[in-house]
Amino acid sequence: MEKDQTLPKPDVAPPTGKLGVLTVGLGAVATTFMAGVELVRKGEAQPIGSLTQLGAIRLGKRTEGRSPRIKDFVELADPSRLVFGAWDIFPDNAYQAAVKAGVLDAPQLARVKRFLENIRPMKAAFQRDYVRRLDGPHVKHGRNKYELAEQLRDDIRSFRRKSGVSRLVMVWCASTEIFLKPHKVHATLESFEKAMKQNHPAIAPSMLYAWAALKEGVPFANGAPNLTLDIPALEQLAHDNKVPVAGKDFKTGQTLMKTIIAPGFKARMIGVNGWFSTNILGNRDGEVLDDPASFKTKEESKLGSLEYIFQPHLYPQLYGKIHHKVRINYYPPRGDNKEGWDNIDIFGWLGYPMQIKVDFLCRDSILAAPLALDLALFLDLARRAGLYGVQEWLSFYFKSPMCAPQLYPEHDLFIQLMKLKNTLRWMKGETLITHLGREYYD
Ligand SMILES: NC(=O)c1ccc[n+]([C@@H]2O[C@H](COP(=O)([O-])OP(=O)(O)OC[C@H]3O[C@@H](n4cnc5c(N)ncnc54)[C@H](O)[C@@H]3O)[C@@H](O)[C@H]2O)c1
Repeated sequence: MEKDQTLPKPDVAPPTGKLGVLTVGLGAVATTFMAGVELVRKGEAQPIGSLTQLGAIRLGKRTEGRSPRIKDFVELADPSRLVFGAWDIFPDNAYQAAVKAGVLDAPQLARVKRFLENIRPMKAAFQRDYVRRLDGPHVKHGRNKYELAEQLRDDIRSFRRKSGVSRLVMVWCASTEIFLKPHKVHATLESFEKAMKQNHPAIAPSMLYAWAALKEGVPFANGAPNLTLDIPALEQLAHDNKVPVAGKDFKTGQTLMKTIIAPGFKARMIGVNGWFSTNILGNRDGEVLDDPASFKTKEESKLGSLEYIFQPHLYPQLYGKIHHKVRINYYPPRGDNKEGWDNIDIFGWLGYPMQIKVDFLCRDSILAAPLALDLALFLDLARRAGLYGVQEWLSFYFKSPMCAPQLYPEHDLFIQLMKLKNTLRWMKGETLITHLGREYYD
């Protein structure tokens, strides 16, 4: 902490011009995000759930009464300056895709119909082997993966030219790919690029987008649990090209609840024997996750949070024997309106057992859309501030936060928020807040 206090604050270039936001995937999350931004800037809706738009940040001492809005405190791009582009394996424009996703109601979509119709996806880099429950016609062709990735770079450049944006960010809002482990071809940029040319199976389509983005100097956020950026080759590229990245897997429904509730148990030294989580979900994401190989990617991402929050190695008597299970069931009648049940078996003083049941009737994409907005704006800020590589201060947004290899990921939502806000304070040369507060009593 002390070292951070003395770290010189970065110079942040102003957000002049327009910011292009490219989403990979134009499905439920991406269209809900884009439609929402347009409704907000037309003054027809509120950006609920967005920290960048609604959050305030306390500065200085509690007696100073300084709590500006985050968007007035740091130099964020204004949502009115955002321009959208996307890739998808289906040629539907954003209006058609939003109607199919069925998240927003018809009258509300009608108000942004023309805007959405003008967002037409570019052809995707896609291979069915990585998302087995999907297939679509709107895809690129090339002799090898390297060529496909070069085509993505062309897309980025031509979007930049045609839209007249001065900066870009890319957010992965496409389907969850099958579970992949780091492979030796991921070890260096050289071996990675060679493997692209050899069509190596360890190179997933999401990695091609990430590579293309980093090559073009475009910050990349990974909203799904895919391995994608979590490999040394792309970390190296992010460093070499000085591009910020963040991931992975938007923290929305059930895991958001876990990382809100679990820190409370730990704070009060309440024990946990078991945490059983199950979901029913009927959107396309649910259909993709019905494939065990895609589910495995999601499961790994969802399971990590409790292990890190409870620290069973420090508290074996409280959390040493947790049974943690996560299930996702594809159940079409519910569409995007997921229902997540948690049964939590806890124990208190002298070991007496208790139970908590959580039944969260949530709307998946309504929870994810503001995260896509915040990530686009914060990654653009990071880029203008000269920050690059993994942006751990954005862990707040992810189920499976990326962090330096020597660290464990921080999952506690409240620690994540403190880290995010202290990073903003540091960027502006404000004192970091430690909550010590002795000065009020001296
Ligand atoms: N909604 C949430 O709360 C939430 C939370 C965490 C993570 N996510 C993840 O976000 C992603 C998007 O979720 P969604 O509900 O919008 O899903 P969706 O199925 O509605 O949209 C995904 C879109 O990506 C497209 N796609 C798949 N592979 C592609 C590729 N290689 N290139 C371009 N397009 C491709 C699909 O055709 C589809 O239109 C999923 O991976 C999901 O697991 C969502």
